[in-house]
Amino acid sequence: MDRRRDSRRQEEDGEDAAAAATTGERLYSKLEEALEIKSLRRIIGAYLNYQDAAEEDIRRYERSFRKLPPSHKALLSHLPLKYQRLRWCISVNTHFIMSMLQAFDPPLDMSEDIYIDEDENLHEDENLQNVTENHLAESAKCSINGSHFSSIESTTSGKVDNVTDKSLERSTKEEEIHMEASCKSSAETFVTSEHQKGSSNGSMNNEKVVCDPAACCSNSTANERGMTPKPYWMDPSIQLNVPLVDVDKVRCIIRNIVRDWASEGQKERDQCYKPILDELNFLFPDRCKERPPCCLVPGAGLGRLALEISCLGFVSQGNEFSYYMMICSSFILNYTQKAGDCTIYPWIHSNCNSISDSDQLRPVSFPDIHPSSAGITEGFSMCAGDFVEVYNDESQEASWDAVVTCFFLDTAHNIVEYIETIWKILKHGGVWINLGPLLYHFADSYVPEDEMSIELSLEDVKKVALHCGFVLEKENIIETTYTTNPRSMMQNRYYAAFWTMRKN
Ligand SMILES: C[S@@+](CC[C@H](N)C(=O)[O-])C[C@H]1O[C@@H](n2cnc3c(N)ncnc32)[C@H](O)[C@@H]1O
Repeated sequence: MDRRRDSRRQEEDGEDAAAAATTGERLYSKLEEALEIKSLRRIIGAYLNYQDAAEEDIRRYERSFRKLPPSHKALLSHLPLKYQRLRWCISVNTHFIMSMLQAFDPPLDMSEDIYIDEDENLHEDENLQNVTENHLAESAKCSINGSHFSSIESTTSGKVDNVTDKSLERSTKEEEIHMEASCKSSAETFVTSEHQKGSSNGSMNNEKVVCDPAACCSNSTANERGMTPKPYWMDPSIQLNVPLVDVDKVRCIIRNIVRDWASEGQKERDQCYKPILDELNFLFPDRCKERPPCCLVPGAGLGRLALEISCLGFVSQGNEFSYYMMICSSFILNYTQKAGDCTIYPWIHSNCNSISDSDQLRPVSFPDIHPSSAGITEGFSMCAGDFVEVYNDESQEASWDAVVTCFFLDTAHNIVEYIETIWKILKHGGVWINLGPLLYHFADSYVPEDEMSIELSLEDVKKVALHCGFVLEKENIIETTYTTNPRSMMQNRYYAAFWTMRKN
């Protein structure tokens, strides 16, 4: 299991050996931490690189425009102005991103001077191959207490401290692999075990500071923060070598903001979240405030469904392993001051399928509700980490009245493992509500050969669940979109499976 522990045991007879083991452990932890820092820097780098990458697109449009013959240029003389407007929209989005990053309290000392060269990495990989797989996720929770989304409080599952080299390598692969899937289903995967520690108390004042380009961004918290010096980890040097695929993820996050937190996303939320909320309401008619039932939402994305469940009178926990998502949801939940606090231009990154330029250039304000004033039930939290790693812990057994999976099951390498984990953590008589397609995220042919991907049909998924002991109580197909631009000429639809199963 844990080779570190094995080697320590062998060396227990001598003081020197013990000291060496201690040093070994310290080195191991150092490497882990270095890898975590590297991984988090990569995510922050992607956010920081958003503006450059988006402006590069505009330069490309302009180059094409310049190639036009004069008569065509004359015909399309409005386009240069559109490009200027796009630039302005990018700067507004950038302003939001910077505010979000400034609000972020990294769980690690990002100033550490780390460099992991290839050889050392591989060497350490070898050593770490057999380190317990459990050594992946440490949960981190952000919870709303009363009217304040108080902070991100760290809780240790008790079994793991940090991310392994191996898991990190896997996470990096997944990130790269997943952007494709992400754009199809907007699912993106990033294994993280980093745990956030609390610092935010939502106590930013309401004073608005209007500064260009945020003139149309009434993001008071952001502007307030904008006046404080940028944290060291936002240094421009961090922007180096950001793969485009990472920058694309930032664009996906922006679309996810619309799905979860804008009025424009209401239709999609009605399609996806409402049936789940109605079902919870139906299944738990007598929930009492003193002892509310508890509900887990694995793959919680930007946290809206988990928040709605909390508002319904459940002790709700969202679980999410993408730090792209966690940074953003933490900002929306902790730092927004009122409904409509922030503005972004989510649809500017595609010229395709627009009915008009004004559709493409339209702003979207968010959040549509102020999370802290939404009427949450005490105990609302977001827990960072891989679902299986975090919840396979003994402490989680039979502890949830309900598990809700929405567009989540197909993120699995091994869907059977997900189903078994859901079974394990539900109380006897507890319910599993699912809504989503089966667009397996690791199904693409370019996934490395050794990457596991178990891709079952809906029938087989149900067969596995019934084999675990679940009883199917309700079943339906629900037509829905996922992070779709409602004004686009292209509207991808899913005929998503919806079910309620009970652990009997
Ligand atoms: C398609 S998105 C759905 C998000 C949200 N449920 C919704 O309906 O908008 C899937 C989410 O699951 C997260 N995810 C994927 N694998 C995960 C895992 N093993 N543990 C926790 N979260 C995971 C992804 O980061 C992503 O945010």
